[in-house]
Amino acid sequence: MKICVINFSGNVGKSIVSQHLLKPRIKNSEIISVESINSDGTNDEKIRGKRFTDIANRVLDIENIIVDVGASNVEDFLYQMKQSIGSQEDFDYFLVPTILKNKQIIDTVATIDTLNDTGIEKERIRVIFNMIDEDTRLLYDFKEIFNCKHVATISEDIIIYENELFNRLHEILDFESISALAHDDTDFKALIQSTEDKTKRSEYITKLGLKRLSIGVERMLDKTYSQLMK
Ligand SMILES: Nc1ncnc2c1ncn2[C@@H]1O[C@H](COP(=O)(O)OP(=O)(O)O)[C@@H](O)[C@H]1O
Ligand SMILES: [Mg+2]
Repeated sequence: MKICVINFSGNVGKSIVSQHLLKPRIKNSEIISVESINSDGTNDEKIRGKRFTDIANRVLDIENIIVDVGASNVEDFLYQMKQSIGSQEDFDYFLVPTILKNKQIIDTVATIDTLNDTGIEKERIRVIFNMIDEDTRLLYDFKEIFNCKHVATISEDIIIYENELFNRLHEILDFESISALAHDDTDFKALIQSTEDKTKRSEYITKLGLKRLSIGVERMLDKTYSQLMK
């Protein structure tokens, strides 16, 4: 499976989707982050032809790949893809995460339009509604996006709820994956009781809290993934 995660806007959750929704559920997959791929270690604003070729070659070479296109590179990436006839056919899906903010909604519609102009069919363009909470009325709040239904696959069921876990994973020093955390069978309660050391106690308390959050998040992401790949 080859997936491109893309949006003209930053902060829509492209990296969260790549790392926590896709990578753990696609066997032997790897992520290329287009922002960091240049071999000379510099951070160019633009993906020049050669760099696009490097990315396109890796997409051909690696069976299961997730390409996370950083916002500042999207325009250039899509331009190069349009020039390189047939390269868009290498991807099974173009996933477009979006959030409930004006700029991001406008940019999401522009992203969908550009993908459509590049010749990518409706089936391969899929929107993921991200950072959703109970107050969100999807059909109303994202109506501009639902208006793109003729050119992209848009479903109320492809959603990721807002969860503090995503912003707290750095609190775990040996973090591996949300799934590993959810299935960690360490008896944290016993560990908490076993020590008077304040630092240790607080470390165990934090980890138990995050483990509890991760169980719910893993279930949610399983559902999102199965709706996404329907
Ligand atoms: N579902 C979510 N719930 C809570 N925070 C989220 C969620 N999705 C993304 N975030 C947070 O929003 C910020 C932007 O997400 P990120 O994946 O880095 O976006 P992008 O790669 O599109 O710029 C990060 O701090 C991330 O942790
Ligand atoms: Mg990112």
